[in-house]
Amino acid sequence: MTLEELEKGKAESLAEIAAAADAAAVERLRVKYVGRNGSIPALIKGMKDVPKEERPAFGKAVQAWRAEVEAALAAKVAAPAAGGSSATLDPTLPGRWFEPGAEHPLSRVIAETARIFGHLGFTVADGPDIETRFNNFTALNTPPHHPSQDRRDTFWLETPEFEGGEGTPEDLLLRTQTSPVQIRTMLQNKPPVRVICPGRTYRRDTTDATHSANFHQIEGLYVDSKPVSLADLKSVLAYFAREMMGDSVTVRFRPHFFPFTEPSVEVDFSCHVCKGKGCAVCKQSGWIEVAGAGMVDPRVFRFVGWNPDEVSGYAFGFGVERIAMIKYGIPDIRWLYENDVRFLEQIA
Ligand code: DAH
Repeated sequence: MTLEELEKGKAESLAEIAAAADAAAVERLRVKYVGRNGSIPALIKGMKDVPKEERPAFGKAVQAWRAEVEAALAAKVAAPAAGGSSATLDPTLPGRWFEPGAEHPLSRVIAETARIFGHLGFTVADGPDIETRFNNFTALNTPPHHPSQDRRDTFWLETPEFEGGEGTPEDLLLRTQTSPVQIRTMLQNKPPVRVICPGRTYRRDTTDATHSANFHQIEGLYVDSKPVSLADLKSVLAYFAREMMGDSVTVRFRPHFFPFTEPSVEVDFSCHVCKGKGCAVCKQSGWIEVAGAGMVDPRVFRFVGWNPDEVSGYAFGFGVERIAMIKYGIPDIRWLYENDVRFLEQIA
């Protein structure tokens, strides 16, 4: 195309835009001239075939064309009356609505937990979703015949012939808890350790309002060569509860059993929804179970090569969904996975 032809093309395009009768026509012309496959971008792409000496002048003319077309299109959209047509813009059409994004409630609970425990000197540790039998069970003092190792409870990656047998420590599974990160942390560090470990966990559970086969936990581990007591655990969890839920929350421990802690407790928060009076969320009890915890069992220390006469510590494991559900008053766990924007907006 010569410069002359180019000027003629420009005049034609501007005339067409001026004559466009409605918004659809303006849009068609935008696509025709400056859209991705429009004629002006095509000219720019073809610049390499223009003789070298003519290229600067030609380039300048194409850019000027593009600028004028864009200005003409913009003017047409902004002031339809100036173009002689009131049909270009329909003022009764609803506007376009852009909502700012928001953090998912589960991510918020995890971030908030990391912040709170960060004040107490805990750092965040990480571990993989695919674990070994050793890290997920054996080193956590959970024997092969324990029901949690059954293939009806645990997603084994290669189902080994362990029914009746014991399997091997290297057998792979989708971790059923974040507790294996305790083992990884102790194998890689020396006391003292203070970590929390948020992450995904997997169990063969049928999904309903309070269960999911894939959920999240936040593990905590504190081990020191100075004596650590159950009272330390309780005060730390009480501090966490107040920071997370507000001053009105109280914490109670109930005796329980976990293979990897002795003594073991289950941890309840007073119900955030009814403030402990009793409601549907807490099944009228005034309390909601949020974690398992206890003093690290001496056998666990031996599995990672630490001397239980020289170290002591506590561990805990929170359900992230549980905390999100009571903090934000969410009655159904499935809402946390559906990513319905109306739900997420409400929480934000
Ligand atoms: N891993 C346990 C579960 O998934 C929760 C738990 C209990 C974690 C006691 C701990 C603990 O660290 O000390 O049910």
